[in-house]
Amino acid sequence: MARKIVAGNWKMNLTLQDGVKLIDALNHMKAPEGVELIVFPSHMLVPEINRLSNGIEVGVQNFSEHTEGAYTGETSLDQVKSCGVEVALIGHSERRQIFGESHEVLKMKVNHALAEDVNFVFCCGEPLEIREAGSEYAFVKAQLEESLFHIPDVNMSNTVIAYEPVWAIGTGRTATAQQAEEMHANIRKWVAEVYGEDVAKDVTILYGGSCKPGNANELFAGANVDGGLIGGASLSAESFMEIARSF
Ligand code: PGA
Repeated sequence: MARKIVAGNWKMNLTLQDGVKLIDALNHMKAPEGVELIVFPSHMLVPEINRLSNGIEVGVQNFSEHTEGAYTGETSLDQVKSCGVEVALIGHSERRQIFGESHEVLKMKVNHALAEDVNFVFCCGEPLEIREAGSEYAFVKAQLEESLFHIPDVNMSNTVIAYEPVWAIGTGRTATAQQAEEMHANIRKWVAEVYGEDVAKDVTILYGGSCKPGNANELFAGANVDGGLIGGASLSAESFMEIARSF
């Protein structure tokens, strides 16, 4: 069965002191039963937030596709694991668009995470011009085929995919519940075509893009929406927890 997950992508926000306040506030709130919570702080904050967190998993927003060596400014998965962290985002649209991460690089990251036993949330989603041209399904399917659909069945069952339409990220413009559900249903169908129905049922598919307390309930009501990847609204303990309680 798919898991229920609400994850907070803090992006390049919050000082260490602010991050400590936020995790402390989250630690003092009652988390809903049956929903896994994850936060993704900036690398610099990760060890301290992970040390302080009580029941909320802590992951990294990015890591290098290389193992070690002369890659100034990069962080290896070995280093990530040495901080007690076992989950990472791969292929967030900001990594793809701003930092030019290609299908090939993302495939290397997926393979590296599997080899190192690190779980990941694989992000996909179309930019506005692709949606306006009516090519969003082909676009997202290609992102999955190019970087994810080569992995073995046993790993796919455990995989988390986040569908994040780029036009909805940080814009306040959310996909309608129907748009989200339609894409999620297609993603599950494509997984089933490659891996079979049983694996497809186990894959967890999150929605991301201006998800907030006011719309999470409607979005999460979709049969194929298993939770959310939350940016802006994850920077407040109250709104993050309210979203987590929205199932
Ligand atoms: P947003 O970001 O919730 O601020 O739109 C979501 C994301 O980029 O993961």
